[in-house]
Amino acid sequence: MTDISNEQYKISQEPYYRAVGREVELYDAAYARRMPMMLKGPTGCGKSRFVEYMAWKLGRPLITVACNEDMTASDLVGRFLLDKDGTKWQDGPLTTAARIGAICYLDEVVEARQDTTVVIHPLTDHRRTLPLDKKGELVHAHPDFQLVISYNPGYQSLMKDLKESTKQRFGALNFDYPEAELESEIVARETGVDSEIASKLVQIAHRARNLKGHGLDEGISTRLLVYAGELINEGVDPAYACQMTMVTPLTDDPDMRETLEAAVETFFVS
Ligand SMILES: Nc1ncnc2c1ncn2[C@@H]1O[C@H](COP(=O)(O)OP(=O)(O)O)[C@@H](O)[C@H]1O
Ligand SMILES: [Mg+2]
Repeated sequence: MTDISNEQYKISQEPYYRAVGREVELYDAAYARRMPMMLKGPTGCGKSRFVEYMAWKLGRPLITVACNEDMTASDLVGRFLLDKDGTKWQDGPLTTAARIGAICYLDEVVEARQDTTVVIHPLTDHRRTLPLDKKGELVHAHPDFQLVISYNPGYQSLMKDLKESTKQRFGALNFDYPEAELESEIVARETGVDSEIASKLVQIAHRARNLKGHGLDEGISTRLLVYAGELINEGVDPAYACQMTMVTPLTDDPDMRETLEAAVETFFVS
C-alpha cells in the first residue's frame, strides 16, 4: 500500500534546475540530517523548481501543498469522511508525507493562519511526530520524511508573518532572481528562444525590477520571463508577448504601465 502512494508522488524525470550558488550541496547536507528547511525569496524565482529537483535527486516522493488563509489544520492532517459504510478516516497531505517518507513542501506557508501552522511543530523537532487528535493516533514520521516551506519576505506584514516559534524550527536558504547571464540561460533553455531574445527579456526585467517599491510590489519574475519566451516561441510578436506577460499582469496603474511599455519598446518595437 505504501508503495502505491509512494510511486504516485515520485518524480520520474529529472527536472531542469540550474544551480545559482551552493544551494544543492547545502540542501543535501540539510536533508542528511532531515533538517526542516525554509526557502525564502520572491515569487517565481525558482524555489518550487529547486524542491522538485532535490526530491528527484534524493529519490524521495514530493508532496506539495499550496497554503491559503482558508486552510485548516484538518486540510493538512486529515479528517473523517462519511461514506456509505459509515465514517472513514482520510489522511491529509502532511500525514501521508510523514507516513511514506516524502518531502512535504508547504508553499507560501505565511498564507495559512497561525493556528494551522502550529500543527507542524511536533514534526519539526526531535519528536518528529504528528498527533491526529480526532483519530487518537500519534504518527511517527518515516525516517526519510522532511518538511520544507517557502516564504516570500516581500509579503510579510505584522498581521501575516510566521510566529517566531515556527521560524526558529527551520534552516533557511535565500533565493532571488538569478543574475543576468544565468537568467538568460534559464529562459532560453526553458522556452527555446535564442540567447539574444532571452537576454533582451532579462534586460527588460531588470528595468522593471528597479521599480519595485516605486509603484510595483514585486519585480518581474523569472516565471513571467519564461511565459514571454514561450509566447515568442509560439510565433507571437515579441512586443505583444511582453505586453501579455511583463506588463498587463503586473499593474493597473496607467503611469506604471507606460513606464513598463517604454522598457519593452527599448528592446522590441511593435
Ligand atoms: N534556477 C532555475 N533553474 C531552472 N528553472 C528556473 C530556475 N529559476 C527559475 N526557473 C524557471 O522559473 C519558473 C518559476 O519558478 P518556480 O520554481 O515556480 O518559482 P517559485 O516557486 O519561487 O515561485 C520555473 O517554472 C522555471 O521555468
Ligand atoms: Mg512556487
